[in-house]
Amino acid sequence: MKKLLALSLVLVVLLFAAGCAGAEEEKSEITIGVVVYDEFDTFVGQLMDVFMDSVSDAMAKNGIKINVIRQASAGSQITQNDQVEELIKKGCDVVCVNLVDRTDPSMIIEAARDADVPVVFFNRELVIQDLDSWDKLYYVGADAYDSGNIEGQIVADAFNSDESLDKNGDGQMQVVVLEGEAGHQDAIIRSEYSVSTIMNSGITVDKLESAIANWKRAEGQTKMARMLDKYGDEIEVVLSNNDDMALGAIDEYDSRGITMDDRPVIVGIDGTDVGLEAVQNGTMLGTVYNDKEKQGQAMVDLAVALALGQDPDMPDLVDGKYIRFPYARVERDNVSQFLER
Ligand code: GAL
Repeated sequence: MKKLLALSLVLVVLLFAAGCAGAEEEKSEITIGVVVYDEFDTFVGQLMDVFMDSVSDAMAKNGIKINVIRQASAGSQITQNDQVEELIKKGCDVVCVNLVDRTDPSMIIEAARDADVPVVFFNRELVIQDLDSWDKLYYVGADAYDSGNIEGQIVADAFNSDESLDKNGDGQMQVVVLEGEAGHQDAIIRSEYSVSTIMNSGITVDKLESAIANWKRAEGQTKMARMLDKYGDEIEVVLSNNDDMALGAIDEYDSRGITMDDRPVIVGIDGTDVGLEAVQNGTMLGTVYNDKEKQGQAMVDLAVALALGQDPDMPDLVDGKYIRFPYARVERDNVSQFLER
């Protein structure tokens, strides 16, 4: 009986010690790896600025040290796979990945699963089958359908309230579309839904052409130049999948010295600093705000919780995996609100 009592006492002491050790293990320092598909993307660059600010706030709030190791993949998935492996080897507690090829995350998922390091994918949405392939994979982004619908709505409302925008008076809207990367979820959905929203508002759309300009301002200008040579002042609307390409189109109109009265309506998406300025000065009719503040903050909240081994029960988390924030309509009358953010 005595022996049994002594044994249980030892067991209790051991359990208590294990409990204390567990509590002691609570981390005071974590490391987050972040990798972006291309260091020159304007929106992703500004999202990363928000991310870094949110990291500083999180250190103060949680009383821990947070190291961030940043990489950019220069548009190569192979490079990115190696970078993620390296980040894991360096001891990152969690990695945030802006995929180059959103259809090819398999190597990253495999490396992360082998090392039991959670992954927060962001901005470039992987397919559900990949996201579902392990329970420590998450996605933070925005609702792409929303962006296309709002962009279409801005243009439809302008046309329905101002007949002079139908420059040739044929009762139809002659449109060209500047598209982001082929296969990118935002490019596909925005191109389709911006046009269908305009049509659903009762306007007949005559889509002259769409051109891929890979989110880039310079490519937007080149593609706009080609379409302008072809269609000239037939073009009544330039629907751009993002602000940078819309600004490229504006650059082309500027370089040809075409005055505002003779230009089409130009709209973008993102609400980058330069995009908002263009809305403010009237060269862009409107944009659709891609909420980098909420996305950057959510990425950090999620990454910190995962790195600390906590359950990430955040209010915006859908199906335990997705966080998608809504977009907002920006025009000249409310642009100052967004410039202040
Ligand atoms: C989109 C954004 C684009 C570009 C792209 C990169 O959400 O609107 O400007 O940044 O992401 O994946």
